Amino acid sequence: MKKLAPCVIWLTGYSGAGKSSIAAELEKQLSLLGIENTSLDGDVVREGLCQDLGFSNQDRAENIRRIGYVAHQMFEAGLVVVCAFISPFQHSRDNVRSLFSKGNFIEVFVDTPLAVCEQRDIKGLYKKARAGEIKDFTGIDSLYEKPLKPEVQIEYQYSSSPIKAAESIIDYLMSHDRTDK
Ligand code: ADX
Repeated sequence: MKKLAPCVIWLTGYSGAGKSSIAAELEKQLSLLGIENTSLDGDVVREGLCQDLGFSNQDRAENIRRIGYVAHQMFEAGLVVVCAFISPFQHSRDNVRSLFSKGNFIEVFVDTPLAVCEQRDIKGLYKKARAGEIKDFTGIDSLYEKPLKPEVQIEYQYSSSPIKAAESIIDYLMSHDRTDK
């Protein structure tokens, strides 16, 4: 078994795309492989570290900027860090990438079509956004820039398996040699 060097696995995609389910599965699989890991998730971070931020373009950029630095600290401590954020802007994702040496920031596009996320609408937020009860909702009245060159792209639907998605990300990591840090 190859040893897995610390890195950041950055899951991006629409709200309800399945990022958190894949992240949870990744944590489980990494732990089973004996790889120390931790995770950062939008819904959790926004209850604490970023509770002062809303969903304007500027606030989202600040959200991702802060998370990037936290993820970097965790990476420096030797962990594989699983991040799950909509992170809708390419420049924000690129800024986080620039904190890491080559190969240590793995951008994963959880490519679930907006229509699928909206139809499922687990948190009822799309319905509220369509009704105008919440503003600046990603995919409705706020932009999502699809990753230009993600290291991994997962075509995902709700019938998809988070187990398989996590396995494909770990396969990518194992098959791409990375220098230690
Ligand atoms: S990001 O755009 O700044 O990266 P983040 O991932 O932290 O977003 O938070 C997204 C979560 O916040 C969504 O999954 C959803 O539960 C919640 N949310 C509340 N309002 C909005 C909104 N206007 N747009 C997107 N997500 C929202």
